[in-house]
Amino acid sequence: MVTTVPQSEIDIPATAAGKSRVELKNVSRGFGEEWDREEVIKNLTFEIKPGDLTCIVGPSGCGKSTIVNLVAGYDTPESGEILLNGSPVRGPGKDRMVVFQETALMPWQTTYDNVVFGPLLRGEGTRAEIDKEARRLLDRVGLGDFKKKYPSQLSGGMQRRAELARALINKPVLLIMDEPFRGLDAMSRPLMQEFFLRLFEENRRTNLFVTSEIEEAIFLADRLIVLSNRPAQVRAVIEIPLPRPRQFHMMSSPEVFEIKRQALEILHEEAMKSFRGQGARGEQVRPQAQP
Ligand SMILES: Nc1ncnc2c1ncn2[C@@H]1O[C@H](COP(=O)(O)OP(=O)(O)OP(=O)(O)O)[C@@H](O)[C@H]1O
Ligand SMILES: [Mg+2]
Repeated sequence: MVTTVPQSEIDIPATAAGKSRVELKNVSRGFGEEWDREEVIKNLTFEIKPGDLTCIVGPSGCGKSTIVNLVAGYDTPESGEILLNGSPVRGPGKDRMVVFQETALMPWQTTYDNVVFGPLLRGEGTRAEIDKEARRLLDRVGLGDFKKKYPSQLSGGMQRRAELARALINKPVLLIMDEPFRGLDAMSRPLMQEFFLRLFEENRRTNLFVTSEIEEAIFLADRLIVLSNRPAQVRAVIEIPLPRPRQFHMMSSPEVFEIKRQALEILHEEAMKSFRGQGARGEQVRPQAQP
């Protein structure tokens, strides 16, 4: 069923329904000692607009998860700054929830207990209020009948939906997703994409979504940020002009084909640079490794 976005929801003021703005300004982060230093992101500047779904795509290992960790506040930039609604990000907070590729559900707790864990721990609201919201969210993500199941008893797609419920109960102003559908089978992945789109289009909570699948990025995003090879820099910002609610048939339009072509061309160029870089290093190392 197609759900349309109510106009009243679109008009709610920024931050009121998770419509927050994120700005990265000249952010750099590297790892390792001076002799073994690896610049991972360098002078990275881009913006995530309120109520937008912004997809980051880039070559494998270019620093996407590093960006996620920085925006989530799990890590700190070496230089530059990250602003959330104008205030610097100084650490993790429940206003920014992250859904990772690997499940972060606690295996010894039921789906329901995983969802209520955060608000109960922080003592936010009464038990009855938390219970009501958890049930509402679990129904919304299609897990109403799976509340008492443990994570190992859920399919991969169900686990991701349980994680979404667990993140959303905290009412984050920014939802960050790091390749959340990687590893799902070929049938479950498009179903999860569509399910997630409907959820996003209900209230347009600002979303930073990392994926290595260009088609997934185009299907979901308002804007694509295409990153270079390491050290990651913005190679292109591509606006996706498809209307919402998104439908799979839109993916066969000529404009999608053109966007895909542009993005793939850049990603291919960057992947080749990375490949050549590794080859060059390999050739330097090999003679030293010989006895
Ligand atoms: N805490 C850390 N300490 C040392 N090196 C790190 C750390 N975090 C990331 N790196 C390095 O930074 C680089 C980028 O890693 P990152 O996980 O951000 O890439 P990615 O784009 O998410 O990769 P993938 O596509 O595989 O998910 C890698 O070379 C990684 O080894
Ligand atoms: Mg990653």
